[in-house]
Amino acid sequence: MAGLLDPLAVAAEAAAQLCAAAGVERIDVGVVLGSGWKPAADELAAAGEVLVRLACDRLPGFVRPTALGHGSEVVVLRVPAVGDGASRVVALLTGRTHAYEGVELWRTVHGVRTLAAAGARAVVLTNAAGGLAEGMRVGQPVVICDHINFTARTPLVGADFVNMVDAYSPRLRALVHKLEPGLDEAVYAMMPGPQYETPAEIGMLRVLGVGLVGMSTVYETIALRAADVEVLGLSLVTNLAAGVTGEPLDHDEVLEAGARAARECGALLAKVVRNL
Ligand code: HPA
Repeated sequence: MAGLLDPLAVAAEAAAQLCAAAGVERIDVGVVLGSGWKPAADELAAAGEVLVRLACDRLPGFVRPTALGHGSEVVVLRVPAVGDGASRVVALLTGRTHAYEGVELWRTVHGVRTLAAAGARAVVLTNAAGGLAEGMRVGQPVVICDHINFTARTPLVGADFVNMVDAYSPRLRALVHKLEPGLDEAVYAMMPGPQYETPAEIGMLRVLGVGLVGMSTVYETIALRAADVEVLGLSLVTNLAAGVTGEPLDHDEVLEAGARAARECGALLAKVVRNL
């Protein structure tokens, strides 16, 4: 925590300002777009009516993401829902702030805490990941079933003993599988980054049963579970993990895979959001 600053109070203020700017009482569903998922925002926006589009640093507590491939907007949409006929207010964060950008950890979860404070009961966290499970292919979306926090850090401060069993909502995972049969599930490992892993590190993760590796998502899941918000985690496999192909890893490759898979991922996101 930064001095006397209370991150939850800053998130509550950001949530109030976001709802006022969008002209809504609350946000129903949040979506965080990881690297490579930004083009999917257009597919999602086309599925609804844009209520407001704000540079996220216009809201208290937000900083502009610095990683290439990340947007820096919050977009609030009204999306028609399937089933009960009611529409859903969806807030889309087009980028995220990572711990490797050198910020205090509360900043990395400020976006999702703002969504929670604005009333979101479910948040979809997307990311780009290296795939290391047998048979994984570039461009494949994978449902996260659990995670390993390899950073030895947490965004929580104080004696907040949050349950992490079923952190990735079994209900939401079942819903995604019903909507899009055939998706794989895997355990996601968060590494501190920003350097990619060594082949030896990937070998270690494989022994531990990890199928996806990345540098985000885990802190947001922890913060959302602390706020009792349901989490759905979706990774896009943008590359095979270090040492799998024998080729060096490259951030451009990650972004290109995202751009190529944008339509499919956007359509998947739109389907999920409309059915949440
Ligand atoms: N490792 C870590 N983070 C990543 C990777 C990777 O291979 N691909 C995309 N994000």
